[in-house]
Amino acid sequence: MKSKVGIGLIGLGTVGSGVVRLLRENAEVISRRLGAEVVLVKAADLDASRAKALKLSKDVYTKDAREVIESPDVDIVVELIGGYKPAKEFIISALENGKPVVTANKALLAIHGEEIFTASEKCGAPVGFEASVGGGIPIIGAIKQGIAANNIESIYGIINGTSNYILTKMTDEGREFDDVLAEAQGLGYAEADPTFDVEGIDPAHKLAILANIAYGTPINFGDIYTEGISNILPEDIRYARELGFKIKLLAIAKLRGGEIEARVHPTMLPEDYLIAKVDGVFNAIYVVGDALGPAMFYGRGAGDMPTASAVISDVIDISRDILYGGNGRMPVASFRNGSRKKLPVMPIDKVRCRYYMRFTALDHPGVLSKISGILGRHDISISSVIQHGRDAGSAVPIVVMTHGAVERNVRKALAKIDEQDVISAKTVVIRVESAE
Ligand code: HSE
Repeated sequence: MKSKVGIGLIGLGTVGSGVVRLLRENAEVISRRLGAEVVLVKAADLDASRAKALKLSKDVYTKDAREVIESPDVDIVVELIGGYKPAKEFIISALENGKPVVTANKALLAIHGEEIFTASEKCGAPVGFEASVGGGIPIIGAIKQGIAANNIESIYGIINGTSNYILTKMTDEGREFDDVLAEAQGLGYAEADPTFDVEGIDPAHKLAILANIAYGTPINFGDIYTEGISNILPEDIRYARELGFKIKLLAIAKLRGGEIEARVHPTMLPEDYLIAKVDGVFNAIYVVGDALGPAMFYGRGAGDMPTASAVISDVIDISRDILYGGNGRMPVASFRNGSRKKLPVMPIDKVRCRYYMRFTALDHPGVLSKISGILGRHDISISSVIQHGRDAGSAVPIVVMTHGAVERNVRKALAKIDEQDVISAKTVVIRVESAE
């Protein structure tokens, strides 16, 4: 039996450097768990200063990723450069060389996952992607193995630390989105271009991966309804609190009547729900299985060492198959290839949930009955109303919380309401996840 497993790393950025450090710092516990050493035999990055900072030897460091893929001493290729090109080519060519791959590349898997999974099956080489969702939280392993006996009823994820940090600051300090974002950028918590994080694209990538392995279906990332947090206002956070709710950017997947509900948007949650208490940069994934009931996975969704922890867990898992046999035991996408089937994603119009609505309406007798009449005619039932203060003749906020309603009806009703003379601004609407 081999006494060593050789790792080849492509990318020595934050996560890649974390992997190098963790392999060194925890070498003993890793080899005791595995029964063999994990050795970094090749590492590629265009920036030589990164290799120097890590004190990588000349034998290990290369500028050329092909050297990593082609080295006979590399048993597992770890791709950590991110993005689509050339990451996809590197992964496919490693698989075609018969080498297992470990990647943290959620954007790539969300868009090209099927091509990569198919190549993995065809080449008989596994792909590990634990680090692609929730950073260090072992949610992929939990879905593929820990809760494999369950039909998964629903998944609710706070899977973007940047937006959770911003919403937490806005909630705790009553500040505006732009103000907190600028501060987060100054502190290095948010990217210079924050679009992927704050507009829900990054969590939608991660949701595509989760829904794929939870429901055994290829998910078209473009079918996931995505809305970010950049339009959330402090006053809606205040009204939410008054009603006993918090606003979180939630990634939601459910199986409903043969369709997958997959959506990412700001969501009001009762403040006593466990997931509503997940604050700051932390991530959490709340999963409901039919046998298990609810379970929540909580931890750091980013950062060098937490993400390296997830990367190396895949390296150890794959190494066990290399050392003791069993390649092909775990299907790459959790379900056996022949038993995966394409399920339609439910259009957002068909989604049913509760809604928070903030109308800006003239303070006249009869205005509320006009609003509630239109809601009623669209089969939308009101659960509570708040109106503070009086300002006869000018506009005031009227906040309405509804019972469960269908999105198509909500859109039609709001279009009708917003064209009324008594309404002076576009109505704000936020979806709510809670019991009636
Ligand atoms: N940019 C991500 C976040 C971390 O803010 O959570 C990496 O997935």
